[in-house]
Amino acid sequence: MSSLPSIAIIGPGAIGGTVAAWLSRSPAIGDLTLCARTPVLALRVDTPQGLIKTRPAMITDPAEAGVVDWVLIATKTYDAAATALWLARLVGPATRVAVLQNGVEHVERFTPWVPVGQIVPVVVEIPAERSAPGVIRQRRDGWLKAPAGSDGEAFAALFPGSALVVSTDDDWISVAWRKLAVNCAGAVSALTGKPAGVVSRPEAADLMRGLVQECLAVGRAEGATLPDDLPDQIVAQSRAGPADSVNSLLADRIAGRPMEWDARNGVIARKGQALGIATPLNATAAALLSAME
Ligand SMILES: NC(=O)c1ccc[n+]([C@@H]2O[C@H](COP(=O)([O-])OP(=O)(O)OC[C@H]3O[C@@H](n4cnc5c(N)ncnc54)[C@H](OP(=O)(O)O)[C@@H]3O)[C@@H](O)[C@H]2O)c1
Repeated sequence: MSSLPSIAIIGPGAIGGTVAAWLSRSPAIGDLTLCARTPVLALRVDTPQGLIKTRPAMITDPAEAGVVDWVLIATKTYDAAATALWLARLVGPATRVAVLQNGVEHVERFTPWVPVGQIVPVVVEIPAERSAPGVIRQRRDGWLKAPAGSDGEAFAALFPGSALVVSTDDDWISVAWRKLAVNCAGAVSALTGKPAGVVSRPEAADLMRGLVQECLAVGRAEGATLPDDLPDQIVAQSRAGPADSVNSLLADRIAGRPMEWDARNGVIARKGQALGIATPLNATAAALLSAME
């Protein structure tokens, strides 16, 4: 038994698999276990720094799991409830649970199963896709950000030697809302069924600005610091990127998979309603995307 922290990753998909591959090289961790729904016998992750091949321990039955020091949750947001059986076995009183997902509800999403003080929310910016179980391409360099404080610092300390930039931020809420602003704008692509180049059309760019403007208003009311020109920044970034780029919402729609519309657009409408802030565009986007599933 190692005295270094043991880690279980629930959901070894694009993000969970990429993070597992980098952790497999970390001298700062002990046992690493993948908790999978579909078996992943080996990881083959093509990163900007080269190919990482590794075979972490893998289990598919929560009954085989025991308490660990760290749980990293990397399922899609809509699969949160499905992690409950894993969490019941993996989480003890000293376990910390890092949530590596999109959106701004990392903590709320898991409070039914994990004490709030044990949850470490993490914003993920790692462009990665998987073509088969365990076969992943990390397209560009990536980063993970946790809130400042001892838990966030302990999370970052798991990754020495990794090419992923893992850090903390004392204004984590602004980091999370800024990422949400980019993600909510992605609904334009998913709704039109067109890759990022659709934003060259003025009416698509206006819709994107409107979605982000609502996110800005709700995010500020929730305590985030966001610049006035965020809508224009996001349109400009989309226009500057590859016109054929397909965001994950559109990729999921094309593949007939469920979509993270609630974590990306529904959340803005839900929080806006609670705060008395009008969010008709995000509410409509969420309703249309949910109807497409
Ligand atoms: N990919 C990116 O570029 C990217 C970038 C930034 C943020 N994110 C966010 O990161 C999160 C993860 O996304 P992803 O792209 O990694 O998704 P993904 O490739 O679909 O991976 C999700 C994984 O969770 C597994 N899973 C689902 N339910 C499970 C359960 N009950 N027990 C164990 N495993 C379970 C899935 O199993 P199966 O193999 O059976 O499907 C899959 O391996 C999302 O919130 C996403 O928005 C992704």
